[in-house]
Amino acid sequence: SECIPVNSSLGHVTVVIVGGTGDLARKYLWQGFFQLYADQVGKGHTFSFYGGALSTTEKGTPLLFDILKELACPAELSVERCALVKDQFLHLSKYHQLKTTEDYENLSQQIKQQLGQEGIIEAGRLFYLSVPAFAYADIAEKINNTCRPPSEAWLRVVLEKPFGHNLYSAQALDKKLSGQLKEEEMYRIDHYLGKQVVSKILPFRKENKKLLDPIWNKHHIERIEIVLKETLDAKGRIQFYDQYGVIRDVLQNHLTEVMTLMLMNLPANLSNSEEILQNKLNFLASLQHVDNSNAVVGQYQAYNGEVQEELNKTKDYFSLTPTFAGVVIHVDNAQYEGIPIFMTSGKALDERVSYARVLFKSNVFCVQDPNNVQCKSKQIIFYLGHGTLQYPAILLSKNLFKPELVSSGDWKEVTEYKDVNVLGLQLSDYYIQSPVTPREAYCELISHVFFGRKDSFISAEGLLASWEFWTPLLEGLSRVFPRVYPGGVDNGNLLNFQLKGHQVAFSHEALVNVINPGAEDNFQVMQGKYRSSEMVSAWAQELVERLASDLLLAAEEAIREEGQFHLALSGGSSPVALLRALALNLYTFPWRNTHIWQVDERCVPHTESGSNFRSIHDLLLQHIRIPYFNIHPMPVHLTQRLCVEEDGGPTLYEKEIKKHVNGSSFHYILLGVGQDGHTASLFQDTKLENDEENLVILTESPNKPHQRMSLTFTAINRARRVGVLIMGKSKHELVSQLSRIKGESSKYPITKVQPKSGTLIWYIDYDALLG
Ligand code: BG6
Repeated sequence: SECIPVNSSLGHVTVVIVGGTGDLARKYLWQGFFQLYADQVGKGHTFSFYGGALSTTEKGTPLLFDILKELACPAELSVERCALVKDQFLHLSKYHQLKTTEDYENLSQQIKQQLGQEGIIEAGRLFYLSVPAFAYADIAEKINNTCRPPSEAWLRVVLEKPFGHNLYSAQALDKKLSGQLKEEEMYRIDHYLGKQVVSKILPFRKENKKLLDPIWNKHHIERIEIVLKETLDAKGRIQFYDQYGVIRDVLQNHLTEVMTLMLMNLPANLSNSEEILQNKLNFLASLQHVDNSNAVVGQYQAYNGEVQEELNKTKDYFSLTPTFAGVVIHVDNAQYEGIPIFMTSGKALDERVSYARVLFKSNVFCVQDPNNVQCKSKQIIFYLGHGTLQYPAILLSKNLFKPELVSSGDWKEVTEYKDVNVLGLQLSDYYIQSPVTPREAYCELISHVFFGRKDSFISAEGLLASWEFWTPLLEGLSRVFPRVYPGGVDNGNLLNFQLKGHQVAFSHEALVNVINPGAEDNFQVMQGKYRSSEMVSAWAQELVERLASDLLLAAEEAIREEGQFHLALSGGSSPVALLRALALNLYTFPWRNTHIWQVDERCVPHTESGSNFRSIHDLLLQHIRIPYFNIHPMPVHLTQRLCVEEDGGPTLYEKEIKKHVNGSSFHYILLGVGQDGHTASLFQDTKLENDEENLVILTESPNKPHQRMSLTFTAINRARRVGVLIMGKSKHELVSQLSRIKGESSKYPITKVQPKSGTLIWYIDYDALLG
């Protein structure tokens, strides 16, 4: 910059805040642009600022002026200097109505004219869209059609979340916007990336790489917590909030970004945005799928009344939108597998605080002197602010190591210790570093837009990857009643949640849950007869628990008698809940002596989500300790393409069965039934005439993927025990029909399941039984 004489023009920058008189603009944006101006004035650029909104110039101008005159002086300016700079800033700022395409055209004309008159070149145009997301596409189109600068100058358009509501709407929005703007022109803000501590997570990891590398893994990390607690509620913004809820508002974006920065692979070059983006994507792709069993949700008590009022709903309206969520996330890679990552956020909690904490395992046993520093917990905390500490900082417990300062110019080591406790340790037990001057996140990010630092923003790919991770959970939760909590300190331990295997549940029973209908508790497990065999019936959860415990009994008996238990599992949706229950049953099930077989498989690679083996793997196998030799996936993918006759997959599987399973007679075969009455992959039209002898065949399904491999009725009817699990209202019709049919019916393949000397038990939940 020394070569550039002061005031020689690097060109003119026009800033337009669309929604320039709104709440966000008033609170943060104008202050951020004022700071930018104060930092940049006299360094070669010239500026003009527009606040745009729907109101007319007469109405908008005084509104804007009211905001601008309240702007605070940046700390580094003297009073006189600030007065001068502020005066200039006010002169350069004006209101412009931005409603119709003509308004935008007119704005563009004004910019051109001004530049022409003053004979200066244009450096770029920055549009900050501080408007509800539904208006983005329309404004982007207007900008594209009327406000593009000449080709030498840049165009940058800043967008605020929400970027969609789930994966599909995010994709749709992305499609609309990318028709108008190039990816490099879009700056999607997540203001957490502008928080001073968040922006230093990667630099901190890099500075301290030597000392962190040996301990930044599953052998040393006990757990990770990523937390944003708020005392505020959602009152006054229910119009927005009720459509989103805490997971979309905070977890999907802010907390996911923080987690990613903590656990992604360190890029070799911290200023290479592309490398950073790629590492982020790799990390997001390595997360284990989360669903309802990995989350707890709550809603503060007053919320529903606020919804009724602000959305004009009647008194019997209930919103299921969660204002609190606790989720446990696991990473599926060798470095971090098994480490629980607790992520939680909520409104109307006891304190305002946000932090991300890595708690390390303790390997010392303190025989005496438990207050010795070596006996205290070891942790690293990225403290974003508020809480007992009150300022942003990075804290390391002193029994870990003394960290390098993350940035020498603008960060300092803190050695004054207030007498407070931060996450279990006294302040004096930590090495602390903190920014010299606190800066607002928006202010940081505005300057990053100006400098084109794209790595502080959300890319389209990163955004979609995050939605892809969160969408299944959000869909699952859309039917879950959140636990109602009173708010503030009165919550007591009501929202505490705990791990169970890889899942979580609230630690304590709710005493009263006003919106939980709860009538179901009155029914117990019931036993009876169905199609002249035994039937067990209960509500879904009890039913699955009963089946799991029957399986355990069968396994114990088989192992007592033969040393091994051979279990064949079906695909489809019915066994999902069972597999999950088995995965939780970590220590009691005799997996070491259990062999897992498949009843049927779809002809897709095992790595695909449609594969039955893949779901057995994801839901069960990866959570248990079972010898690899005991796992017998169906060979659908051999030397040639999927399930081709020439490969002889069925014969191979049959040989494997004959080799391991005594008399080819499985100890337990678990079946489901499709709505059309099919079981395993044996359909109404499946030809079986010549297959009396065969145990395994290739079949055709009427549904995609059409090609299947399946055990035959011959194999099934040889089993010692067959369990048929039927759940859900959608099976009610089928359950009634089957009960009316005596004996076999070619229309319903399930009726051909008739074990020769074994037993058949039906497990039917009340939804399927009673409708
Ligand atoms: C916003 C959410 O993005 O982040 C708010 O919409 C939340 O609901 C806020 O309160 C939290 O940000 P901060 O900076 O106060 O931690």
